[in-house]
Amino acid sequence: MSDFTSGFWSVYVAGVTLAGIFGCALLLWFTSRKKVAASSDNTTGHVWDEDLTEMNNPLPLWWVGLFIITIVFSLLYLVAYPGLGSYEGNLKWSTAGEYRKEVDAANKELEPLYAQFTARPVEALAGDPNAMAIGERLFMNNCAQCHGSDARGSKGFPNLADADWLHGGTPEKIKETITKGRIGMMPPMAAAVGTADDVKNVANYVLSLSKAPHDSVRAQLGKSKFTACAACHGPEGKGNQAMGAPNLSDDTWLHGWGEQAVMNMVNGGKTNQMPAQEGKLTEAQIHVLASYVWGLSNKPVNDRHDDGIKKEEHRDKDKHGDKDEHGDKDKHGDKDKDR
Ligand code: HEC
Ligand code: HEC
Repeated sequence: MSDFTSGFWSVYVAGVTLAGIFGCALLLWFTSRKKVAASSDNTTGHVWDEDLTEMNNPLPLWWVGLFIITIVFSLLYLVAYPGLGSYEGNLKWSTAGEYRKEVDAANKELEPLYAQFTARPVEALAGDPNAMAIGERLFMNNCAQCHGSDARGSKGFPNLADADWLHGGTPEKIKETITKGRIGMMPPMAAAVGTADDVKNVANYVLSLSKAPHDSVRAQLGKSKFTACAACHGPEGKGNQAMGAPNLSDDTWLHGWGEQAVMNMVNGGKTNQMPAQEGKLTEAQIHVLASYVWGLSNKPVNDRHDDGIKKEEHRDKDKHGDKDEHGDKDKHGDKDKDR
């Protein structure tokens, strides 16, 4: 009840509520005091259907009692609980508070379990099936709506399952990304590049960096204009993770592939945001999530020296080979889609 745009509505709602209750009380008071019309046979004098008459009795006591109880209850309720405009009530109860209490209780219950997880480094935890099952669930609930349930992202939302990173793929960087969020900002660059023709030329130069189909004459002409881009994307277009500037010389495209997509980036720029999770998730949950994301493109490191896990590590190595091949295939798929 605290979302009113002005204080007036709070007073208005409270006024209407109280006037309603007060009105009921008045009505009850008047009707219990006054007889409609006194006639000798104790009827109201109305006759229907020839012989149907209405008795002129006061309301039964139990009925009046219920009315009074209802009115008193509603007043007490409004003192204790939110209901009068934005007045929050004596008990300070709210659905948001209820939710927080439940989440806190659940977090407390899971604390011992998470303590085992946070005691292990991100790289090792990625090999723990229990932790990864929880990581997957956390990912589905908090991340999949943007990055996709397979974490492979979509246009504007980076693929987290490949080894290509905008902001860095070390456990520390991934944790930092999830905790604090990230803003990827490229300003509109057309003015710095020159004419519309220059923009087209530099776009073809960018495409030439990844050996994508391009006009080689235009690419040659556009090469000198790339100095305007080098500050962020590097002199060879290999990107800069400190600025979140993507590598332009690989075939991974966050914002679409092809001459038009690159020209759109240069002309319009782009501000892209990964929302910070520190207010939403606990540090331990972020630790598990970082491990889950890291594990999508890395093989877990063994921090427990028994045979069982070593065997598993071996198997993972094989899987990893497969995954890489798969990743490449997918990158290709993305390209097709964007075209
Ligand atoms: C509202 C959409 C949204 C949600 C929800 C979201 N992300 Fe992101 N995430 C993004 C965007 C957009 C970027 C790219 C930011 C940029 O362009 O610099 C990103 C970037 C990232 C990166 C950096 C990738 C790189 O290449 O460096 C990681 C890691 C990441 N997200 C993990 C997560 C995890 C884990 C969650 C769930 C807790 C999550 N994200 C939830 C939108 C989202
Ligand atoms: C101030 C730093 C900065 C400069 C200068 C800059 N960029 Fe960018 N560029 C970025 C960032 C950051 C992103 C990623 C935006 C995001 O996170 O979504 C980006 C993204 C792009 C992309 C999209 C890549 C993809 O994977 O889809 C292209 C293409 C691009 N830049 C081309 C250029 C060109 C060409 C120039 C020079 C005319 C240029 N940029 C200058 C920072 C910069």
